[in-house]
Amino acid sequence: MNETVIVLDFGGQYNQLIARRVRENGVYCEVLSYKTSISELRGRNPKGIIFTGGPSSVNADNAPIVDAGLFALGIPVLGICYGAQVMACVLGGKISSGADSAPKSEFGRITAALDTGSALFTNLPKQNTVWMSHNDHVCDLPSGFVSIAHSDKCDNAAFADDGRKLYGVQFHPEVTHTDNGALMLKNFLLNICGCSADWSMDDYAEIAVANLRRQIGGGKVLLALSGGVDSSVAAALLAKAVGEQLTCIFVDHGLLRKNEGDEVEAVFGRSAVNFIRVNAEDRFLQKLANIEEPETKRKIIGNEFIEVFTEEARKIGSVDFLAQGTIYPDVIESGLGDSAVIKSHHNVGGLPDRLNFKALVEPLRILFKDEVRALGTRLGLPDTLVWRQPFPGPGLAIRIIGDITKEKLDTLREADAIFREEIAIAKISQDINQYFAVLTNVRSVGVMGDGRTYDFTVALRAVCTGDFMTADFARIPYDVLERVSARIVNEVRHINLVCYDITSKPPATIEWE
Ligand code: XMP
Repeated sequence: MNETVIVLDFGGQYNQLIARRVRENGVYCEVLSYKTSISELRGRNPKGIIFTGGPSSVNADNAPIVDAGLFALGIPVLGICYGAQVMACVLGGKISSGADSAPKSEFGRITAALDTGSALFTNLPKQNTVWMSHNDHVCDLPSGFVSIAHSDKCDNAAFADDGRKLYGVQFHPEVTHTDNGALMLKNFLLNICGCSADWSMDDYAEIAVANLRRQIGGGKVLLALSGGVDSSVAAALLAKAVGEQLTCIFVDHGLLRKNEGDEVEAVFGRSAVNFIRVNAEDRFLQKLANIEEPETKRKIIGNEFIEVFTEEARKIGSVDFLAQGTIYPDVIESGLGDSAVIKSHHNVGGLPDRLNFKALVEPLRILFKDEVRALGTRLGLPDTLVWRQPFPGPGLAIRIIGDITKEKLDTLREADAIFREEIAIAKISQDINQYFAVLTNVRSVGVMGDGRTYDFTVALRAVCTGDFMTADFARIPYDVLERVSARIVNEVRHINLVCYDITSKPPATIEWE
């Protein structure tokens, strides 16, 4: 069994981010509720425990807190923000709420003076920018503790009891706004907890497979496979865990990019799982005929998806589990609870109610996107699936402005494929986070060969973004754009004009719809 560090969740915003930072240091990590009993914690034999931040005040009634016995286990503990205050409070220190005294709140980037002789701050500079976000502060340290960092307003920006290996930091080392935060966590994990940092995604795959086998037993599992990164990696993991107990239903709604359906079938059609591809293009196109309004398109596609999926699922007979490729960013951060929403944008909302499943299986729930990709590669999925760009559930339907026809879909597929091909040839795909073609419903007069044309405009959209919430248009070199434009008007019928979208998000969105 790998060495484990446990993150105890006090309802902070960054609980999974802390877990991820631990995994980045090569140490397996799980997030558990602060309510986890001491005996369970001891049973898991962790090398260290990290308390997250949280929105409460330890001075408030019913504030989340831990039993003092936790600190007697001999396991190193790092408390972060609220977690640091919990540690100080339980061990006999005093926490002052902002209103009690001269306000000591700190928000944003603050310079802290670090005691670099402390094991937590080894190899750090004496003055270090840290990210603070607190009203309360620790005014009296518990006995045995010394301050190891201070800021202008906060005497105890970090504190330590080296003998008992207990550490608290008022700031957030897990966020990138804290300079050297990763090094602080590394110091805690390696120097203080004594972790050997030999964990990797390979181990995650093994642990996840063992957990899935335990959860699923001899039951049957159903997965809606979209061909996107998350559902593909979930399918590959489940295939490894339970093989033919898994059935993947791939609803091909005819709104995919060029060759995409065949690529998905090529990977999963040959695997050990039961793979069902439902060619439902005609059904979707009939329902979408003459529909122009984007939200109506989305609703029709969502409903039809559920219809088709449910029909197929019923053919299989009784199924015990519904699997989903929910990843951490999809999970609603619900404070202290740990309930997830089913990906509303993944067209499967409503399924669990309509089919009688015992439970949901979500093997990627704790992972971030890049971790999911690393796992996919580890499981042997091809790069075409693992590095697939985000693609909306309603597919090309929202990239065709106005009504949708098979002919328009084929036109857009060709133009989009050329754009993607030229980006690949120019070797700039790693610099752009999402790029695609849009079929506008603008038609204009052009001239081709000596003849007049009256054809459609294709818009090219390419963005650079980290979180897809804001985005900047990609500075694609003109010569690449020129090649794309020349090829599209020459090779794709009914396109006589190509334009490039140079709007950021906001005010625009990434998709045109
Ligand atoms: P917007 O257009 O809102 O898009 O700036 C932000 C990101 O979300 C993707 N997107 C979707 N992804 N189902 C998805 O899985 C959807 O229905 C959907 N709609 C938009 C979009 O491609 C971009 O990456």
